[in-house]
Amino acid sequence: MSDVNLQDLVRTDEGLISRRIFFDPDIYRAELENIFAKCWLYLAHESQLPNPGDYTTNYMGEDPVLIWRGMDGEIRAFLNSCRHRGMRVCRTDSGNARQFACPFHGWTYGNNGELKTVPNFEDGYFGDLEKENWGLHEVSRLTSYGGFIFGNWDADAESLDGYLGDLRWYLDILITRSLGGVEVIPGQQRYSVAGNWKIAAENFVGDSYHLAHSHGSAYALPIRQLNPANPMVFRDRKLEYYDIAMEGGHGFTQFTLSGERVEVDRMLAEEMGPEVVEYVEECHARLVKLSEAQAKVHALPFGNVFPNFSINDFSALRPVGLYLWTPKGPGNLEVWQWAATDRDAPQVIKDMARIDFTRFQSTSGIVGPDDTENFEQVTQSTAGVIGQRLDFNYQMTLERELVEGFDDVPGYISTYVSEENQRLFYQHWANLMDGGRGARQVYDKPRLAAQG
Ligand code: FES
Ligand SMILES: [Fe+2]
Repeated sequence: MSDVNLQDLVRTDEGLISRRIFFDPDIYRAELENIFAKCWLYLAHESQLPNPGDYTTNYMGEDPVLIWRGMDGEIRAFLNSCRHRGMRVCRTDSGNARQFACPFHGWTYGNNGELKTVPNFEDGYFGDLEKENWGLHEVSRLTSYGGFIFGNWDADAESLDGYLGDLRWYLDILITRSLGGVEVIPGQQRYSVAGNWKIAAENFVGDSYHLAHSHGSAYALPIRQLNPANPMVFRDRKLEYYDIAMEGGHGFTQFTLSGERVEVDRMLAEEMGPEVVEYVEECHARLVKLSEAQAKVHALPFGNVFPNFSINDFSALRPVGLYLWTPKGPGNLEVWQWAATDRDAPQVIKDMARIDFTRFQSTSGIVGPDDTENFEQVTQSTAGVIGQRLDFNYQMTLERELVEGFDDVPGYISTYVSEENQRLFYQHWANLMDGGRGARQVYDKPRLAAQG
């Protein structure tokens, strides 16, 4: 990073970002240090670990982690690497175990991370190894927000609540609306993409611009829940969409703020029978209790929790999509994605959620591969000598004022479509990459809610 001046590469005040930040190996290495070893990262959902001994695996940056519920009921996360010579201790995706014996030489760890037994402890180590100092390396901080478990390697990091900031107001909509709580459908979909993780994250943070064009073929299909904006579904009212960016680099797009989405849900539910109508009304009543403003929002269509955790939540009738863009080098990422539904949703909704997620977002779905193709070819455009000298353009709505009139909704609200969210994402990224030494505030619009 010595010859890299991030202020030259990330000029969000001009809407210009150098292609180099998606390709440069030094920048990538610095991201692992300054972003992935310091930010709160999504690890798992509590519904995946209901019982003592339940575990699942994931990555934090390039470090493999094991998320494990101990016999004491507490969930902890560990570097999934034996303290002896580094072998991966847990080699399955998920399951239940009281302990793991390392496959290499057999050091054995309990599900609270402690090193329990060591082969040849007496005749090899002569009893001298201090086992209490050689337990699994624990993730410094682990906190759940409404069942969503986040971890942080940085012991001095701010609290998860502070990190999420205004985003909590929105996550509360998802968490509260879910009858019986959010439940992740067992299993996950994984695939490799020859793309930079930021290209995927920025797509969810605010790129509504691509929807009609990249997914035009999917939108042309007569599938009603895919596009409630289609006049066939929502005949007599235009949906007013907005983008919302938040401090901390989080952003969501395609929001409606005036109750349109619950009206769509009601209309579609009526066609599915009284049980589904009752379900939609119950979900809505829970949100009204939370607040009128949150009830009007009803769903969080596309968004990204900084840095690399994206969420789809279009309505009470469709699955919640959870996506991690896991970095595997500057030009590669692994997508890990899960579908979730409500624990107490009618069976017809649960069944539909599984089919819907696979149909739209899987590697053979009618939406997901459109994005994958974009992520890969955009990233490839940053690798050539000439390509690398150029900037990407993020100038849409650069000179436009933020939207006023929604004083009870937190965040920076901009028109749909816009690139406001992406600019804030990269501004935050650049600030963190500067080692927290106070990067120049390159983009600083007044916060709408504060204006009253
Ligand atoms: S690497 Fe695990 S016991 Fe040797
Ligand atoms: Fe897309």
